[in-house]
Amino acid sequence: MERIYLDHAATSPVHPEVAELTYDMMKKHFGNASSIHGFGRDSRRILDQSRIVFAKSINAKTSEITITSGGSESDNTAIIETALSRKEIGKHLITTAVEHHAVLKPMEYLEELGFEVTYLPVDETGKVDPADVKAALRKDTILVSIMYANNEVGTLMDIGTIGKIIKESDSAAYFHTDAVQAYGSEDIDVKRDHIDLLSVSAHKINGPKGIGFLYINEDIHLPSLIRGGEQEMKRRAGTENIPAIAGFKKAVEIMEADRSARLSSFEKMRVFLLEQLEKAGVDFELNGSPDQHLEHIISLWTKGVSAEQLIVSLDLVGIALSAGSACTAGNIDPSHVLIAMFGSDSPRIAETIRISFGLGTTMEQIEILVEELGKAVRRLKKT
Ligand SMILES: Cc1ncc(COP(=O)(O)O)c(C=O)c1O
Repeated sequence: MERIYLDHAATSPVHPEVAELTYDMMKKHFGNASSIHGFGRDSRRILDQSRIVFAKSINAKTSEITITSGGSESDNTAIIETALSRKEIGKHLITTAVEHHAVLKPMEYLEELGFEVTYLPVDETGKVDPADVKAALRKDTILVSIMYANNEVGTLMDIGTIGKIIKESDSAAYFHTDAVQAYGSEDIDVKRDHIDLLSVSAHKINGPKGIGFLYINEDIHLPSLIRGGEQEMKRRAGTENIPAIAGFKKAVEIMEADRSARLSSFEKMRVFLLEQLEKAGVDFELNGSPDQHLEHIISLWTKGVSAEQLIVSLDLVGIALSAGSACTAGNIDPSHVLIAMFGSDSPRIAETIRISFGLGTTMEQIEILVEELGKAVRRLKKT
C-alpha cells in the first residue's frame, strides 16, 4: 500500500537536499558560532550567509532577522515582549479570533497580566475586515497581530491594506503578522506592507523542525524572551543550531527557485480535486475564501460525514490528512477557526477535513484520494 501524505500544513517532509546538507553540517560544523577560533568562525560564516538569505526572502535587512526555534517562539516573542516593553505607552492589543494558538495563548497570558485584547471577528470566508482593524485602533494600542494566511482554511488576510491602516493611524501600534503558513507561497515584502514583526517556521517549507526566524524592524528594540547569552545580537539567547540553520537556508533557496512551478501545480491539483469530487458525487462545500487563499490548503465540509471517522477510514488505506479541527492527544477539539467563521452550532465544525499539498504530491495521489474519499463518504453516510 502506497502511503499518501496530504497534511503538509501540519508539517512538511524534509527535502532530501536539506536533509543531506543538515547531516553533513552536523558532522563538519559543530563549532560554537560565538567562539573566536577557526571552528567557531566556520559556524559564524554559515550563520551570516543564512541570515542574508532569510532577510532577502522578505525584503528585510540582515540585522532585522533573529533566528528562533520556530513559529511558536517567534509569535510568543513578538507578542509578549512587545507588550511588556511598551506597557507605559498602552496596554491594548488587537488580534483576530482565527489566529494560531501560538498567538492566542500569549494574548490570553497578557490578559491575565492586565492587558486588554480585542479579538476581531472574521466573515464566513475567514477574512478580517480592514475597516474593523481601523475602528479597533486606539491611542493606547501597542500591537496588532493578524496572521498572513490561516492554517486551517488557507484564507489570506489583506495584510497590505491592514499595514497601511495601522501606519496611517494616530496609534503607535506595531504590526505583527504570523506568516508561518504563507511563507513559501506568498510574495512577502515587509517594507511594502508596513510590517514591523513577522514570524516564520522552517518545517512548513521542507526545512528542519525547531528552527525559524522573527523579523524585527530595525527601529524596534525588543527584549529577548529567552534570556541568557548574547547570541543573535542580544535578541535571543542560546547556542545557534548551525546544521538546522544551514538546512533552513537550503530549504528557502529551493522554495524560491521552485515557487512558481510549485504554485501552478498546486492550483491544477486543487481544481482537479474539486472537479473530481463533484463528479464522484461527494456532497461537499469548500470552506475559506474562493479567490484569496493559499493554493495548497483545501478545507472541505463533507456534509453529513464525521471528519473524525473519515480521517480514520482514510488512514486505514494509507492516506493522511487532518480534521478541520485540531487533534490534541487523540481527541478532536472543535476548531476555533470554524466556530469564528460559522458559529458553534454549524455542522461544519464536526464535518470538515483539511487536505494540504506539498513536496511529493502527485496527480495520481489525488486520483487515489478522490476514489477512497468517495468510498469512505458513501459508507459513512449510511451508518
Ligand atoms: C499559523 C501558524 N503559526 C504558528 C505555528 C507554530 O509554528 P511552530 O510549529 O514552528 O512552532 C504554526 C504551526 O502549525 C502555524 O500553522
